Amino acid sequence: MSGSDHPATAHTCLPEHVAIIMDGNGRWASTRGLPLLAGHRAGAEAVQRTVRAATARGVRWLTLYAFSSENWRRAPGEVADLTSLLRYYLRHKVAELSREGVRLRIIGDLARFPRDIQEEARRAEEVTRGNTRLVLVLALSYGGRADIVQAATRMAQAVARGELRAEQIDETVFASALLTAGMPDPDLVVRTSGECRLSNFLLWQSAYAELVFLDIPWPDFDATHFDAVLDIYSRRERRFGARPA
Ligand code: IPE
Ligand code: IPE
Ligand code: MG
Repeated sequence: MSGSDHPATAHTCLPEHVAIIMDGNGRWASTRGLPLLAGHRAGAEAVQRTVRAATARGVRWLTLYAFSSENWRRAPGEVADLTSLLRYYLRHKVAELSREGVRLRIIGDLARFPRDIQEEARRAEEVTRGNTRLVLVLALSYGGRADIVQAATRMAQAVARGELRAEQIDETVFASALLTAGMPDPDLVVRTSGECRLSNFLLWQSAYAELVFLDIPWPDFDATHFDAVLDIYSRRERRFGARPA
């Protein structure tokens, strides 16, 4: 469900769109005395399990926060490790995703990554374009505030060109200028690792999302946890500001 078309209240069953802040790779590695890279590798394996669980359960949209616009502040070695992992998955795992009926979509400032990653990412989006079972949205160099600012800039430019009148800007028009244009808003936002914050993730889009925080680090996340969060979600009552009947 997107924008303002949600019903006044709704008992929830299966979320159409699950979004996950995949946090805790570093702590997972350090509690095991392993290098950071081992944590990120184990995190990538959890991504594969989660995609399988989402398709098996019939979730249609899965957004994964893989790298925030602030994660560029990390040490160059860690950024290089994360970039290499991303390159590996884009090169070697997209065909498998595609066979499973998964469409890949990327949101974020891809231009900050090396050119070969940008090309692989665009190619992955292109080759999976026709798939309809699950849309896997990867948030890469994504920041919610940057998303809102680029939407405002695009609309200001459209007004300056005479293609849009300022009075026409409403929530629907605004949402269509965001990087998530055409996507339903997340129904459920999950964060692992015990931190209870959004860290600049889908700020506009999560306005009415149900939030679930898990104490486990991301590399431990598996299909059992996925089912558990679906179960928590199914017991929530979404009101969207209305008084329940
Ligand atoms: C999440 O794990 C992965 C990214 C942010 C890229 P972290 O690396 O943030 O793990 P912690 O929070 O240090 O444990
Ligand atoms: C959020 O995790 C970003 C991702 C999971 C990609 P961080 O580990 O970067 O968040 P903070 O810094 O603890 O808020
Ligand atoms: Mg973290």
